[in-house]
Amino acid sequence: MQRFSQSPTDPNFVQNPYPFYDRLRTSGDLAWWDEYAMPCAASHHAVHTILRDRRFGREVPPELAPTIPDHLAPFYAVEAHSMLELEPPRHTRLRGLVLRAFTSRRIKALEPEITALTHEKIDTFPSGAPFDILTTFCQPIPVIVIARLLGVPDDMAPQLLRWSNAMVAMYQASRTRATEDAAAQAAAEFSDFLRSYIDTRRHDPRDDLITHLIAAEEAGEKLSTDELITTCILLLNAGHEATVHTLGNGIKTLLEAGTDRIDDKTVEEILRYDPPLHMFTRYAYEGITLYEHTFQRGDQVALLLASANRDPVQWPDAQRFDPTRPVTQNTSFGGGLHFCVGAPLARLELQIALPILWDRCPNLRIAEPSIYANTYHFHGLERLMVQTS
Ligand code: HEM
Repeated sequence: MQRFSQSPTDPNFVQNPYPFYDRLRTSGDLAWWDEYAMPCAASHHAVHTILRDRRFGREVPPELAPTIPDHLAPFYAVEAHSMLELEPPRHTRLRGLVLRAFTSRRIKALEPEITALTHEKIDTFPSGAPFDILTTFCQPIPVIVIARLLGVPDDMAPQLLRWSNAMVAMYQASRTRATEDAAAQAAAEFSDFLRSYIDTRRHDPRDDLITHLIAAEEAGEKLSTDELITTCILLLNAGHEATVHTLGNGIKTLLEAGTDRIDDKTVEEILRYDPPLHMFTRYAYEGITLYEHTFQRGDQVALLLASANRDPVQWPDAQRFDPTRPVTQNTSFGGGLHFCVGAPLARLELQIALPILWDRCPNLRIAEPSIYANTYHFHGLERLMVQTS
């Protein structure tokens, strides 16, 4: 396997990681990334295959479980119950409970609300002056939608955004001790808020996800209170972070490409071309030989979703943004057991918000060069300054 060195915080890489992915892919399905000290699946075939191979998983093998330092205890107290960090049987039980509430009927029923919210946000755009469309449009829509789906008041949205940003920063290559302290504090505050909010809501059932999860918890055995809290935090965090940045990256791409027709295919191409989440890792649970490499139990492998999406074997002329290309499933929502629970909701938000934006702001244009935040493995803009005229 060929070795590569690339700092994930190098500004050039952060602004455009795709040339590095191209180099990795030309060396084969797996390449060794020195800075992460692990093999990376870079081709579409390898990413697709390992995501579905049950001999690999997200949960840390028990014998490798790290000792949690005291200052991070509140953060990992939440993570310990996250379906995203678990494998069956706990994963199956937690995911099943959420999926029952995430029915296609319930998602589809959100359409009028997402439409109204999109118009409401566009109404606030200044006419003539440059403004940041990330904070005025891309952030509030997904945050308010997921908060309403769970049954958390709209006015909590800015606070949810702050807690969420602090917690997900734990997964960024630029993580420092200050990041860790902020994440632990956010996890503790978020849990405290949900614990008391859930207690209030026990006596106030409504037609929302929190009510549904409380019912599962009260039925006993199906869901503990800690699992209930973590599931709410996971949904609130995962429910907007990636959607915010898909909207941002997508608007930038559409404006740069001069695209004026936005349909469901355009949304799929946006997801393929510049996704917001670039890397997830898996542990090998047994000795496995794949692509001429032997993994020992406990070895990790990085799955480069955004690299898989630019694989020319899967997409001819993969470096070109082409909203007319036939839709082939990209890897932006992952695959296999942990395939994104929120994919139908995220797609719906994009399919509604972007065409309305283009319809109402036909002269939308980029006002200042945009910069991606130094937050690998996330890939999202710091801000996106635009003008409507
Ligand atoms: C464009 C937006 C989104 C993208 C690109 C995205 C991407 C992903 C990816 C790649 C994974 C799998 C990670 C892995 O395999 O290790 C995932 C899992 C997950 N996502 Fe999303 N997501 C998006 C929106 C959402 C939304 C709107 C929600 C919630 C409503 C959500 C909830 C989740 C949850 C709960 C999981 C964990 C599933 C499991 O472990 O079984 N996501 N997402």
